[in-house]
Amino acid sequence: MKSLTVLFAAAMLATTAHASPFAKGDPKTGKALHDKTCTSCHIRMFGGDGSKVYTRADHKTRDAEQLASRISACNTNTGAGWFPEDEAHVAAYLNQQYYKFK
Ligand code: HEC
Repeated sequence: MKSLTVLFAAAMLATTAHASPFAKGDPKTGKALHDKTCTSCHIRMFGGDGSKVYTRADHKTRDAEQLASRISACNTNTGAGWFPEDEAHVAAYLNQQYYKFK
């Protein structure tokens, strides 16, 4: 019976996480971080404000997990030195603004 309870709790957790993948992040803080560090290459590659990298039809990021890992990789690549909280803020921003993953 105990294992059933654990299973149920895990299912509940999974459902909650799914409903709002970046609930811990603050989109406003994320936008500030993003606009400071993350637009230079995207603008060079895609023009405008660079947001086409997120909105083009064949964009690479297809779910919340991929978005999180992409942001993490870009954080490392660019030497931004963000903490995990900062990544969560940016994830919340990009998801709210562009991706809208559930
Ligand atoms: C050194 C240049 C550069 C910088 C700086 C940069 N990016 Fe990128 N970004 C890229 C390239 C190149 C791609 C891949 C485009 C492709 O795959 O077609 C990309 C793609 C992405 C994607 C995936 C878009 C998709 O296809 O859905 C995300 C998300 C992203 N970047 C986030 C960030 C974040 C967050 C930062 C700031 C920490 C950042 N990038 C800074 C070059 C950069």
